[in-house]
Amino acid sequence: MKLSALAASSAVLFALAAPVAAEPQAEVLHWWTSGGEAKAVGVLQEEFSANGGTWTDMPVAGGGGDAAMTALRARVLSGNAPAAVQLKGPAIQEWYEEGVLADISSVAEAEGWADVLPASIAEHMKCEGHWCAAPVNVHRVDWIWANAEVLAANGIEMPTTWDEFNAAADKLKEAGVIPLAHGGQAWQDATVFEVVALGLLGPDGFKKAFVDLDADTLNSPEMVAVFDQMRKMRGYVDENFPGRDWNLATAMVMNGEAAFQIMGDWAKGEFLAAGKVPGEDFLCESAPGDGYLYNVDSFAMFEVDGDDKKAGQELLAKLIVGPNFQKVFNLNKGSIPARTDVALDEFDSCAKKSSEAMAAASENGALLPSYAHGMALRGAQAGAITDVVTAHFNSDMSSEDAVKMLAEAVANSM
Ligand code: BGC
Repeated sequence: MKLSALAASSAVLFALAAPVAAEPQAEVLHWWTSGGEAKAVGVLQEEFSANGGTWTDMPVAGGGGDAAMTALRARVLSGNAPAAVQLKGPAIQEWYEEGVLADISSVAEAEGWADVLPASIAEHMKCEGHWCAAPVNVHRVDWIWANAEVLAANGIEMPTTWDEFNAAADKLKEAGVIPLAHGGQAWQDATVFEVVALGLLGPDGFKKAFVDLDADTLNSPEMVAVFDQMRKMRGYVDENFPGRDWNLATAMVMNGEAAFQIMGDWAKGEFLAAGKVPGEDFLCESAPGDGYLYNVDSFAMFEVDGDDKKAGQELLAKLIVGPNFQKVFNLNKGSIPARTDVALDEFDSCAKKSSEAMAAASENGALLPSYAHGMALRGAQAGAITDVVTAHFNSDMSSEDAVKMLAEAVANSM
């Protein structure tokens, strides 16, 4: 046989013997169900499909993800974990310790994640030295959102101190406007609480209290002042607040029923999805005080059987950290890219502010993980704090009693 014929026939043989590439599949559990969130997750779904993947959606409604985490536990316990799960903070390591997370280091290394992610974010994505989650974004939590027209009509500027916030809220209340749009759900109470705490305790105090769980800081006069401010906040919300979803609270700011909302920048995703323009229809300002509370959304891959599912996990992980997805997703989600090499030209002024503030906070040790969004503490400790915050917000408990309860609850959770 001539050499060229031999080469051709062996190529045919090789092609016949080569395994058929598995078609990537992924069942994806997430809690992105509001208008802005659904648009953002749609970007991932489209990109996955465009790259040959088949996506099975498993949305579990409920801001902050509590319901999604309950659903996840049930699925894992029944031995049928979804392939990819929206998971973040120390919960990633907690699941890894249960032996159910896949190692995605091969994707991370091939894609050079270590070169494009800030070290502080990369740390959250690792489990005992392996990459075990893929980051999507950086959400800032300590924001105040406002209806521009309502503030102008009442002669109010964006507050730069909590005293100014209180003065503005009192004035608005008098004028018949709901000062603070809020939904009475534990995670929303915790969100407002941690933003007030960062403002009043400062970055060092916040870190001592909610990262280090320092008993003296938890049990301090400064913490009493935080609960005093929470009592004021309670007076600024309307009567229908119990149980309200966060995006309905954002809608109250949009339609001028309420002036302010304290919420992470997923709220901006809602404003944008409704066609509202930052700086014109709505205003964004960091909440009074120093520091930056970050909340990084990420996906962890659970151990699954089947080449198609494993291929799906690899494709998803690769796309999630890819530069195109990081840009388009975050333009919709309200957050900023986790990657440091994505240009922000197409992003709005709030996103640019967030990026600059994050860099500055990182320089001066004021970049802090959000406790309310599961970035700072393990579930038991975060839950113990939130129970006290909610119990205080929904009763006439004194600030002194709340602080005592807080210190005790944290001690008992350890
Ligand atoms: C998540 C966001 C989400 C928000 C409201 C936060 O904990 O990090 O991605 O939009 O909850 O559901």
